[in-house]
Amino acid sequence: MKLSRRQFGTALTGAAIAAAYGRPGWAQSPIVIKYSHVVANDTPKGKGSLKFKELAEKYTGGKVRVEVYPNSSLYKDKEEIEALQLGAVQMLGPSTAKFAPLGAKEFEAMDLPFAFADDKSFQKIVKGELGKFLFDKLESKGIKGLAFWDNGFHMVSANKPLINTTDFQGLKIRISGSKVADQYFRKLGSIPQILAFSEVYQALQTGVVDACENTPSNYLSQKFHEVQKHITVSYHAHLQYAVIVNSKYWTALPADLRTPLDKAMAEATDYTNEIATKENEDSLKAIKDTGRSELHYLTPEQKKAWQVAMQPTWQWAEGRVGKEVLAIMQKSTSS
Ligand code: LMR
Repeated sequence: MKLSRRQFGTALTGAAIAAAYGRPGWAQSPIVIKYSHVVANDTPKGKGSLKFKELAEKYTGGKVRVEVYPNSSLYKDKEEIEALQLGAVQMLGPSTAKFAPLGAKEFEAMDLPFAFADDKSFQKIVKGELGKFLFDKLESKGIKGLAFWDNGFHMVSANKPLINTTDFQGLKIRISGSKVADQYFRKLGSIPQILAFSEVYQALQTGVVDACENTPSNYLSQKFHEVQKHITVSYHAHLQYAVIVNSKYWTALPADLRTPLDKAMAEATDYTNEIATKENEDSLKAIKDTGRSELHYLTPEQKKAWQVAMQPTWQWAEGRVGKEVLAIMQKSTSS
């Protein structure tokens, strides 16, 4: 465990609290759910998390209090996964790119290039066989998946225009964790590097990396556009989250609270998925209005060239995520 002294202290306290809460009767009142995430409040996930808090507290009549810790204020990417396993926090919403440390590499299938036609199709697909398959994978790891949340499509940026696939040659590009993203950028000749989300702005500013990918809402709220002169609105891959809890913790909750909490999560999920597209459109417009970064759009021919160059990632992924999840994805996207 690579937790700092402060975090370790928090983890121990959290574990002790979780153990106490695990006793029948749930003596403590109100029950506190600590929900940690890495993005700003003013993003689809940030707003969805606050919606869940509002509804969970309302539907449980105040018996549950949800403490949302946004913007890596409690834990950074890797630490929050450890914190969930230790019981220091009870709920997370990591992107599917960050599930390998949980032993569920299959989630990275959704990071494949050009996998989803649009947000609506992503949202429909995860409600079916694909979502169930992925959540089943978490069960043996002591984790329960509650919902999939949308955050639109990735753009890509650098201090030079990225238009042709050859523009990526030798570029040091930040990725969030997925080996699938590592692979599609390698296919373009870049050198991907995993960095925690909270470290990206500074890494771009100081030249530790040259480039990054993310959605408009994440660019705007983290000000990445201020340190990247050119953004290509490529939408080459989709960014999605799975909201997860520690299974032991969740099943030990009093039954009369689980129903209102499930209802709150279902409604917060609908809300997040409803706002995701518009939030990203509005963010893109806001980025454009700042004039800090030039936006580029690919012609159909250029887009086709990206697709062709990244396409071998699909076959490569068989050895990473397994053929089963890929078959489900392909079946779901073509039906
Ligand atoms: C990233 O690290 O780029 C994203 O996963 C952050 C997020 O949660 O949207």
